[in-house]
Amino acid sequence: MSTLIVNGGRKLDGRVSVHGSKNSVLPILAATIINSGTSVIHNCPKLRDVDAAIDILKYIGCRVFVDGDTVTVDSKNAANFEIPYNMMREMRSSVIFMGAMLAGMRKAHVFTPGGCELGARPIDLHLSALRALGAHIHEEGGKIKCEAGRMRGRDIVLAFPSVGATENTMLTAVACEGKTRIINAAREPEIEDLQNFLVSMGAEVSGAGSSTIVIYGGKKLHDTEYEVIPDRICAATFLCAAAICGGNVSVGNVIPEHIETVTSIIDSIGCSLSIKGRDITVRCPERPSAIRLVRTMPYPGFPTDAQPPLMALATKCNGTSMFVENIFDGRYRHVSGLSRMGADIKVEGNVAMVCGVKTLFGCPVEATDLRGGAALLIAAMAAEGKSEISKVCHIDRGYAAIEKSMCALGADVKRV
Ligand code: UD1
Repeated sequence: MSTLIVNGGRKLDGRVSVHGSKNSVLPILAATIINSGTSVIHNCPKLRDVDAAIDILKYIGCRVFVDGDTVTVDSKNAANFEIPYNMMREMRSSVIFMGAMLAGMRKAHVFTPGGCELGARPIDLHLSALRALGAHIHEEGGKIKCEAGRMRGRDIVLAFPSVGATENTMLTAVACEGKTRIINAAREPEIEDLQNFLVSMGAEVSGAGSSTIVIYGGKKLHDTEYEVIPDRICAATFLCAAAICGGNVSVGNVIPEHIETVTSIIDSIGCSLSIKGRDITVRCPERPSAIRLVRTMPYPGFPTDAQPPLMALATKCNGTSMFVENIFDGRYRHVSGLSRMGADIKVEGNVAMVCGVKTLFGCPVEATDLRGGAALLIAAMAAEGKSEISKVCHIDRGYAAIEKSMCALGADVKRV
């Protein structure tokens, strides 16, 4: 298992480009099952989670070819409707295969997914939406058996705008007779990307990006070619890295509107930002001022996935920053690693108070989850001395060769 060795304290200077969005490409890869044909997907990032999704597609019976950042999936012969536990537990988003398989193969036998390092992650909203659309679902000891009954569109009201439940409902509804409306749908950019992909294969889906998504199911689908949007959380992580280390950094291939809540904070703490097309350049002072208040919310609110890197930044800001985590109940696991480096953080329930310190000190720390691992990395880059970050496999789930990107910005990070 890899470790990242970081010699901290270097200012950053350079340019980095953001890869395709993990949270877009995973549901899109699952959705390739639905057209029983060929889907060519561009801008696929090289991530552990993408490898896990490709393994599932191959297991189901799809032919998958990877050429650089293009993945081609031929789902004509997809027939194996049982995904084994060891594949499901590799990543939480494997649950999206449930809706895609139900739509494309009329059956899905899966297990409750893995990747639950952020606290309780129930899938009750997914299951009740799929049942309402006509799926027969039987749960037994972590196994979930879904079979398509008479699949008919209808209004689905989500009690919470869950990203995964919205995606599963969209995928299933594409195969339902008639009209489905998803009310209180998640509004994340990745939902819009999934809609655009489904439309590109002939499905009739509209409204993504707003709270009501409308799907007219049962349309004839065809082969497609599609390009995934850039990863807004990677972009946010690079901006936080620039702000905590200081210096001048350009982040390319960003859709600036997707990270407005992040850039407005970076701007408010004294960094100067310039946005031109898909490029964001940031010039950062020696020590930015504190962040005041960050509350994570469903999009367009501040993204929970950017909370850990932003907290790493807050540890060195001048003053006290306050975080309220409203999406996941176990999303402060990076705090103990940051504290070992000398950060002053107090957590009470879902609130964290971060009192900025002048200096962090490098030390051995363990990545406990994907974004928490990225937070430890950028803190280590800004710390005095050497850090060793173990369990890098968590970081590799969502950042392609992160050490190369950070080295391109002038950081000293090696993988051993
Ligand atoms: C997705 C993202 C993840 C991001 C999260 C919130 C992917 C692959 N992952 O995760 O990176 O952090 O959105 O933006 O896209 N909930 C229920 N019941 C359900 C479903 C969810 O109670 O059936 C709760 C969850 O426990 C959590 C909240 O709803 O507290 C948000 O979860 P959700 O939006 O579903 O996140 P994911 O789709 O799992």
